[in-house]
Amino acid sequence: MKNALGAPQSLLVLGGASDIALATARALIADRTRRVILAGRSPEALERAAEGLRAPGVTVETLEFDAADVDGHEKVLGEVYAAADIDCTLLAFGTLGDQAHDEAHPVDAARVAHVNYVGAVSAGLVAAAALRRQGHGSLVVLSSVAAERARRSNFVYGSSKAGLDAFAQGLGDALHGSGAQVLVVRPGFVHTKMTAGLPAAPLATTPEAVAEAVQRGLRTGAHTVWAPGALRYVMAGLRHLPRPVFRRLNI
Ligand SMILES: NC(=O)c1ccc[n+]([C@@H]2O[C@H](COP(=O)([O-])OP(=O)(O)OC[C@H]3O[C@@H](n4cnc5c(N)ncnc54)[C@H](OP(=O)(O)O)[C@@H]3O)[C@@H](O)[C@H]2O)c1
Repeated sequence: MKNALGAPQSLLVLGGASDIALATARALIADRTRRVILAGRSPEALERAAEGLRAPGVTVETLEFDAADVDGHEKVLGEVYAAADIDCTLLAFGTLGDQAHDEAHPVDAARVAHVNYVGAVSAGLVAAAALRRQGHGSLVVLSSVAAERARRSNFVYGSSKAGLDAFAQGLGDALHGSGAQVLVVRPGFVHTKMTAGLPAAPLATTPEAVAEAVQRGLRTGAHTVWAPGALRYVMAGLRHLPRPVFRRLNI
């Protein structure tokens, strides 16, 4: 159970080797979390990540999970939720793709959409069913500022995150009153494996700063957090720019 300060005791990470997710797991372990399950595609990467989190009194397990394999989600995740209550599920998997390549290769563009949106719909609904049964707990969804307005330079990824973000907001509304909640997290550019080698965007941040925003959101029962917070206002402006002006920005 989460305590009165919203700190979870158990954490399931979908996309268990994500840099943002692991920073979040470290922050939550430092607070109160004692059981962590890292679910993802690469057993080796998960085991390395698990080793980095293990500490006296903290158990870390790994689980094979492919977000793209939606047919397997109910079985793989259902078993985790059936075994014990999970206070916090962190939906962290995602793929950035390569906009220029993906525009020229529709199948690859569709793979980005499939993982980021379709995989999240399926996994998110399995998590929601468990949260309803439990009557407590949180689903934390790593969306993105890219969800706020699709940009020319990464609209394949951006549109997949827009779908994910809308889904997560709706799911939060659906769970309202059940005792469980959804926290939508909208980071800007974060220095992680995903963005390695890319030029940093303005207000670029770290996985640790995103983790702090997640912790704050859990503590306050927020439905949405931005990382950094100032991006909320930047994106509100960008979202409402008239199309001709937005196009001239060439972003
Ligand atoms: N970094 C940023 O600037 C930024 C900004 C906003 C939002 N986000 C979002 O934050 C989340 C975490 O990203 P990150 O920055 O921490 O990047 P990351 O370290 O590259 O983590 C992404 C994780 O997603 C996993 N993944 C990809 N496809 C998967 C699949 N089919 N099944 C299961 N796992 C899969 C990857 O596992 P593999 O090792 O198996 O590929 C990887 O562990 C993502 O959803 C991302 O879109 C990131």
